[in-house]
Amino acid sequence: MRSFVRASTSSMRANPRSRRDASADARSAAEREGRTPDDRQPRRDPDRPRPAHAQSVVRSGTDDRITRRGEPDRPMRLQHLVHLACPSCRSPLELAEVRARSDERIDEGALRCTGCRAGWPIVRSIPRFVEPDNYARSFGEQWNRFPRTVYDRHNGLRLYRERFFRATRWPERLAGELLVEAGCGPGAFTEIACSTGATVVAFDLSSAVDVNLRENGRCPDLLVVQGDVLQPPVAPAAFDRLFCFGVLQHTPDPAASFARLVPLLKPGGRLAIDCYRMPTRSRWWTSYYRWRWLTRRMPHALVHALCRVWVTVSWPIVTTLWRLPGDGGRNLARYLFLIRDSFRRKGLPVTPRFEREWAVMQLVDQLTPRYDLPQTIEAVRGWFEEAGLQDVDVAKGDNGIVGRGRAAAP
Ligand SMILES: C[S@@+](CC[C@H](N)C(=O)[O-])C[C@H]1O[C@@H](n2cnc3c(N)ncnc32)[C@H](O)[C@@H]1O
Ligand SMILES: [Zn+2]
Repeated sequence: MRSFVRASTSSMRANPRSRRDASADARSAAEREGRTPDDRQPRRDPDRPRPAHAQSVVRSGTDDRITRRGEPDRPMRLQHLVHLACPSCRSPLELAEVRARSDERIDEGALRCTGCRAGWPIVRSIPRFVEPDNYARSFGEQWNRFPRTVYDRHNGLRLYRERFFRATRWPERLAGELLVEAGCGPGAFTEIACSTGATVVAFDLSSAVDVNLRENGRCPDLLVVQGDVLQPPVAPAAFDRLFCFGVLQHTPDPAASFARLVPLLKPGGRLAIDCYRMPTRSRWWTSYYRWRWLTRRMPHALVHALCRVWVTVSWPIVTTLWRLPGDGGRNLARYLFLIRDSFRRKGLPVTPRFEREWAVMQLVDQLTPRYDLPQTIEAVRGWFEEAGLQDVDVAKGDNGIVGRGRAAAP
């Protein structure tokens, strides 16, 4: 069993003026003193009171009932600390406590703000800046139930890769750049972003971050964080590119969420988002929106079970409707059963089992989130203009609306 070693903070104190210096200082302090991974930090006296910062540390941001426990494949790297910032005062962070450590990697520990001294835990290699019981809990449950369904790598499709490059219009090689993904969920887009060779910081409010690290932990330049778009825990004006797909409509204030993301870009940095488009009045009443008032209040496990029964029972009728010529049958299946023909029309080679599983996941995704606030193209264009972005392009896209822009150059 792994022994947990707690660090004294003095030898790891970072220079508050520079996050890069902070991690370098911490590394070189250990190296200068010639400490090995096992004896690098003095053991904490169990009788000593916990330091004040540890008392203000938020609880672990995961729901342990639904998150598989165990050692992460790839612990957090100390060198990535420079990409984080205090979500409240935006100051750099320093490492305050390490409970398991190998070389330059951290399994468990705590971070502390060099400005306001607030503290946060690192749990299973993920810095956690939010309370576990937040409004995105349904997403944590969803992505822990469907951890791999959407992954190109697992389903053999190229849906996420194609959507990523269609939406961003970024090059396929971005080595040397720093990307941030807001609302990463289980990490199907994180995988694509990592494939560009860029350093990627991916954060999400829910415990889906555990799925993301499990799936993408082998990417050498990835930092996964649990944090809130409305108070991003990442460094301001630091990123070459930012993307945020399928997230903004699920926050309580999509316009405010967007406005909080823009300052993360370096001057000249590029941003791409997508979000749901407001259905017309008639579509509203024929869509899943007519059920959400009920389902979003129900226990997640119950909605999940009902969706599974619903798809199983209605599948023979739905697939018969899909076979009818024209769009009438498809529309009827969508109106009556809320099940979309996601693959056949595109001629994608999926098994019936996978298609049913996707239908269950999609229903759960629609019926359980606390917030679902679709937008108009005009409203989204207004966000971009208000933020002073340049080269703005907002239009209909894969997920409803897609928008791209660039932060003003210096
Ligand atoms: C529909 S999922 C999309 C996940 C991922 N971007 C994808 O497309 O696969 C929406 C995600 O937004 C996250 N989310 C909602 N509100 C958030 C917030 N305030 N800050 C960060 N993430 C948030 C949810 O936890 C969820 O994982
Ligand atoms: Zn602070």
